[in-house]
Amino acid sequence: MLRSIPRSFVAINKPSAFAGLRFKHTLPALPYAYEALEPYISKEIMQVHHSKHHQAYVNGLNAAEEKLGSAFQSNDVNEEIAIQSAIKFNGGGHINHTIFWENLAPKSSGGGQKPTGELLKEIEKTWGSLDKFIEKFNAQTAAVQGSGWGWLGYNKDFKRLEIATTPNQDPLKPTTGLIPLLGIDVWEHAYYLQYKNVRPDYLKAVWEVVNWKTVTERFNKHR
Ligand SMILES: [Fe+2]
Repeated sequence: MLRSIPRSFVAINKPSAFAGLRFKHTLPALPYAYEALEPYISKEIMQVHHSKHHQAYVNGLNAAEEKLGSAFQSNDVNEEIAIQSAIKFNGGGHINHTIFWENLAPKSSGGGQKPTGELLKEIEKTWGSLDKFIEKFNAQTAAVQGSGWGWLGYNKDFKRLEIATTPNQDPLKPTTGLIPLLGIDVWEHAYYLQYKNVRPDYLKAVWEVVNWKTVTERFNKHR
């Protein structure tokens, strides 16, 4: 029984157990070329966004997990707690961007092609039409103060679709319980080089390259 194991035994075994689980996160390759989403999202934005910003979250997450490993090893609970915000920020940035790249596709690969089947039915049931959903999504997402994300999420408990927003790099599921189906990045780094301060123009254009196939796959997997 665990209760009967001396504390020292548990302490000795913690580091090796943790070390066994550690692995480095890596930047996932984009499933299309940097210029493939033009003219809706420029090559320059995609290049900087993927190779610099997303890479920085991956590096930050690896560094934070490294520190967590050391804190864990030395039983430093204060340090373990202090690292949590870096894990949330960089881990969220990694999770969110990985979803975002999959949620986009060039026109030639079906980007912007409207959803069909059960997902469309559910969107129509919830918002009346796909256009009404996009209107609502854009209004809520444009209103995110500072940096953040707009989401189409699935509420598994109530079996319904919901629009949500998260601040900073907060990932949807750990902070709201909703399953992310579609995430749109509204940090300025996602649009400023092309759309300057006009976030609503970027939000209008992005639907031309939304990959509804991956949104549908996520929906079918979780509903
Ligand atoms: Fe981003």
